[in-house]
Amino acid sequence: MRQLLPEPRDEVDVAAAYAVDRPAHDGRPWVVALMASTADGAAAVEGRSGAIGGPGDSEVFAAVRAVADAVVVGAGTVAAERYGPVRLPDDVVARRHGRGQASQPQLAVVSGRLSLDPDLPLLAPGPAADRPLLIHPPAAPADRRAVLASRAELVEAAAGPGGGVDPSALLAELHRRGHRVVVLEGGPTLNGTMVAADLVDELCLTLDPMVVGGLAPRIVVGAGPGAARAWCPAHLLEHDGALFWRLLRDRSEA
Ligand SMILES: NC(=O)c1ccc[n+]([C@@H]2O[C@H](COP(=O)([O-])OP(=O)(O)OC[C@H]3O[C@@H](n4cnc5c(N)ncnc54)[C@H](OP(=O)(O)O)[C@@H]3O)[C@@H](O)[C@H]2O)c1
Repeated sequence: MRQLLPEPRDEVDVAAAYAVDRPAHDGRPWVVALMASTADGAAAVEGRSGAIGGPGDSEVFAAVRAVADAVVVGAGTVAAERYGPVRLPDDVVARRHGRGQASQPQLAVVSGRLSLDPDLPLLAPGPAADRPLLIHPPAAPADRRAVLASRAELVEAAAGPGGGVDPSALLAELHRRGHRVVVLEGGPTLNGTMVAADLVDELCLTLDPMVVGGLAPRIVVGAGPGAARAWCPAHLLEHDGALFWRLLRDRSEA
């Protein structure tokens, strides 16, 4: 992996490039969106993201997850990607302990309908401490709550204007639990609600030199016209033609 920006460097320590200090916000965590796109803007190939990004993306994905206090993901992505629990390797866990972080990030799934299959690997029966949070609005169906109650910690959060979980309420809940850095792993719909509310601080974006056509979503959908805001590059890395941006939301005019 080499660095192109802010200055060229032939060899980059990828873990160190993402283990940077992130400013604390008042009352909410710092939010890092972690996403991969093809050159023509697709966030999925045949309904999944695994074909996008190559080995460089796997390295960046691991480096960003390593710094997360919580990993947040939408129900659509959990189902499409058959999410399992987050399990970081021992060397990463040791570095996390050195920074005062828990061994593993808390996984939090956001859903309105709670229609998740209880047999998903993520929801496999296990110790209560290992269960993911399942964050839902007050209107989530009672029968689905009953089905999932033994597989996840159900957390009710205030609804936003569309009836889904209000993104500010989602982040306030995670902050209340002590999480300071949240890694948002998508998908495009959840990203849309977060970007619409201007609650994404950082975007770690893999750009794969591949063109796939088709109607796959972009990495953010449904955020609306007001979402066109300023971002600035913190770094740009390259490996095998794939590009890895670290972009920061520019709040200098706020
Ligand atoms: N390229 C990448 O980096 C990447 C990353 C992630 C995902 N993906 C791809 O994206 C596709 C999935 O897209 P998607 O847009 O369906 O993903 P998604 O955002 O993970 O899932 C959408 C679902 O999440 C729930 N949700 C989102 N925002 C919510 C809110 N504010 N409140 C309550 N529930 C909320 C809803 O679940 P309910 O229906 O249960 O209410 C909604 O239907 C898959 O093909 C996946 O492979 C790509």
